[in-house]
Amino acid sequence: MLLNDKFGRSFKTLRVSLLSTCNLGCVYCTMGTEEEVLIDRKPQPSASFFLNHIARLHAQLNLQTIRFTGGEPLLYRELPQAIKGVKALGIPDIKLTTNAFLLDRMAPALKTAGLRYVNVSLDAMDEESFFRMTRRRQLDRTLKGIETALACGLDVKINAVMMKGKNDDQVLPLLEYAFERGIAIRFLEVMTMGHLFGHGQEYLFSQDEILNVIASEYNFSKQHRKSSSTANYWQTTEGGVFGIIANDTEPFCQDCNRLRLDAEGNIYGCLSNNHAIALSGAEDEQELGEKLQQAMSQKQELHFTGSEMSMMHIGG
Ligand code: 5AD
Repeated sequence: MLLNDKFGRSFKTLRVSLLSTCNLGCVYCTMGTEEEVLIDRKPQPSASFFLNHIARLHAQLNLQTIRFTGGEPLLYRELPQAIKGVKALGIPDIKLTTNAFLLDRMAPALKTAGLRYVNVSLDAMDEESFFRMTRRRQLDRTLKGIETALACGLDVKINAVMMKGKNDDQVLPLLEYAFERGIAIRFLEVMTMGHLFGHGQEYLFSQDEILNVIASEYNFSKQHRKSSSTANYWQTTEGGVFGIIANDTEPFCQDCNRLRLDAEGNIYGCLSNNHAIALSGAEDEQELGEKLQQAMSQKQELHFTGSEMSMMHIGG
């Protein structure tokens, strides 16, 4: 069964949040309480728990992409098994979103397991700004993770969440770092999720503001936006490409093709309207189809509003 809503949207990408804990304490994700920034060591669901859900969803949706996220997915012990399992299901694109803190150590095994694409969250290029954003030191660990991933032949992209007054001076240093290495970089407008819900606007550093900063150093022109892409892209006259994910000022809900699965086996059709739909009650394929319809009806028509759910739980 292929779902299509009145905007022609279908679920093609499944984002799987493997766990709700992280080894960084980023300011857009957490308030920095001890409970939030301590790594939760409780037992983790097995890879087969996720793979069973993924296989059932894939049978109905013919998924193109699985993206593993968290929390921080590199803290999930059976990540290589999960990747291998997805590969065995024949889902073509296997991707990961990570802070790269543990990537230096893990990149080779993940590549061998079948991983192809890695999005690394990197919000600053100097130690002080990095600390302001992540509440951790050791920016060099993240950078080393990126270098190792590139050396293993993984396709790396950088995601940089921009926040007014926190890291808005980092646009050009991040851009330079990415251009020097030929890495695709996307700047993200901050989303009003979790503790920012209702009052995140004060931190908004908008697409226009980001473009103004880049225009002080580069000439660039806009590229055509691909369907269901989250980012707008520009190319500089020197050939460097950068993107902006304008969650707030230019939302892309109208062709969003994402479905989300959390580590408790709940699905969500939309970040702005994220009432959990438990897969556990779906005994047969018809019931699963009904749950998917329910998730599809959660999708918003135009506007990203955010919600009280932290990205720590659902991973972007
Ligand atoms: N706003 C924008 N981006 C966010 N991310 C996490 N929380 C937020 C937020 N509130 C980003 C992470 C990562 C991706 C999954 O989402 O930095 O790159």
